[in-house]
Amino acid sequence: MEWGMKNRLARLIQKDGKALFLPVDHGYFQGPTHKLEKPGETIEPLLPYADAIMLTRGVLRNCVDPKNTKPVILRVSGGASVVGENLANEGLITSITEILRVNASAVSMSVFIGSKYEHQSLLNLTKLVDSCEDYGIPVMAVTAVGRELEKRKARYLALCCRIAAELGARVVKTYYCEQEFHKVVEGCPVPVVIAGGPKVDSEKEVFEFVYDGLQQGAIGVNLGRNIWQTEYPVGMIRAIRAIIHENYTPKEAQNLFEQIRAEKA
Ligand code: 5RP
Repeated sequence: MEWGMKNRLARLIQKDGKALFLPVDHGYFQGPTHKLEKPGETIEPLLPYADAIMLTRGVLRNCVDPKNTKPVILRVSGGASVVGENLANEGLITSITEILRVNASAVSMSVFIGSKYEHQSLLNLTKLVDSCEDYGIPVMAVTAVGRELEKRKARYLALCCRIAAELGARVVKTYYCEQEFHKVVEGCPVPVVIAGGPKVDSEKEVFEFVYDGLQQGAIGVNLGRNIWQTEYPVGMIRAIRAIIHENYTPKEAQNLFEQIRAEKA
């Protein structure tokens, strides 16, 4: 692996081998998502606790101070919307020149395996990998399920992660699943991070799936709504950070969260 690729990966994945990515890219197909109406305001208090932020060039340019030194994972697939015909009908939306111009540490794009647009999204991935590898930029593949959240089972996720890695992704983002998540990680030759999906009912649930995902081999998270849609986003990200980088158990994370919440009150 060449120096540039190694250096960018080292900015994303910390010395302990773990990572906390903060995605705020949801507006690229959902519009002004709840609690992300003003992305700059959402991100600002959370940035110190994230290892990288994931977002589109539009939000980066307009809502993030260029003096920001946190690594940027640029979302470079899109072209569909929640009110359109099919969320899987995405293309590549950002050129390699632009990726370099905004000094991205990595790029991310979705693949929709099993969908009508499977072939298109997988070819998008290979094209992106070809362009980005020339410049030492890692590609993170997002194994997307669109509206079909019930697809989040080990067998399907393992298939998606493996295909994305085989096609050249350097990191894969997938969903956690309760049954046999370790099979998803074991079948994937590149690091796996987990997303949260729609906000769940309690903090405890988030701490438990993050902890369990790590125990089963994920290197960290790319976790959005279950941080910034909650009532105490700073408490959430700090507690999740403690699980990832300080080996906190869910119980210890909950205690830390409650302590931070009490300080705020
Ligand atoms: C949106 C994405 C998100 O970055 C990813 O799903 C993580 O966010 P969340 O934890 O809110 O699901 O790819 O398209």
